[in-house]
Amino acid sequence: MRLKDKVALITGASSGIGRASALLFASEGARVVVADIDEQGGIQTVESIQQAGGEASFVLANVTSDNDCKGMIEHAESTFGRLDILFNNAGVMDSNDDNVETTSEETWDLTMNINAKGVFLGCKHGIPALRRAGGGVIVNTASFVGLMGAATPQIAYTASKGAVIALSRELAVIHARENIRVNALCPGPLRTELLMKFLDTEEKKQRRLVHIPMGRFGEAEEIARAALFLASDDSSFVTGTEFVVDGGIMAAYVTPE
Ligand SMILES: NC(=O)c1ccc[n+]([C@@H]2O[C@H](COP(=O)([O-])OP(=O)(O)OC[C@H]3O[C@@H](n4cnc5c(N)ncnc54)[C@H](O)[C@@H]3O)[C@@H](O)[C@H]2O)c1
Repeated sequence: MRLKDKVALITGASSGIGRASALLFASEGARVVVADIDEQGGIQTVESIQQAGGEASFVLANVTSDNDCKGMIEHAESTFGRLDILFNNAGVMDSNDDNVETTSEETWDLTMNINAKGVFLGCKHGIPALRRAGGGVIVNTASFVGLMGAATPQIAYTASKGAVIALSRELAVIHARENIRVNALCPGPLRTELLMKFLDTEEKKQRRLVHIPMGRFGEAEEIARAALFLASDDSSFVTGTEFVVDGGIMAAYVTPE
């Protein structure tokens, strides 16, 4: 049990990476706070954990709200007594996100608010709680597109993930001596709802697959296992990294046929 006696809060845990991580963390002994705007999905995550014999609690939280972020951290401490792991994972990819000329200010603001400000607010309220617990771990979900240009234009999303990486790096340095580790997790393209809704034609999917040496989209469970590594003591000397899990994209100049 790699997370025995730990309390973990995961945002965006009603679906995709967040849900897969919630189930995995709970199976490794963590008590999990499932935070999301999707109440129905969140309750399903909690029920799945409980059916498997784990402990979890749902809190309705919109990560763009300072008050909600404060509330979700308080929920973790009041329900389970402490917070050891904060996984800021909630994120969106707006279907109107495109190139810089065509992307609207609304899409930019929506994306930056959830993906970048949401992580800022999670850390703002989470770090004092981690400190109260004597230290802890933050994992922030970024993306490989924060590190290299995307083949399909999505300018707001790309910028938001660059912000998550830069923010995570600075937090790692500032809080290193408080026994708080902070890493940005950078998944490649995954077969989750978020991306499959965005790449809504076979042509768009193929355009993305061309760049993945493994020739397939990743699964949420594969990212959850990386998140578990970063959240557990297995990564006790790992902080300030951009932890890339991308099927080989970053390594490729030309992908094999
Ligand atoms: N799917 C991919 O290919 C991919 C690749 C790289 C990074 N990511 C990132 O991984 C993270 C999780 O994505 P996913 O693929 O599991 O997507 P998903 O759509 O399956 O899950 C995202 C979750 O975030 C929640 N959410 C959205 N806005 C919220 C808000 N304002 N407050 C609280 N919760 C909110 C949604 O309700 C949903 O449950 C995101 O940050 C995403 O950008 C995804």
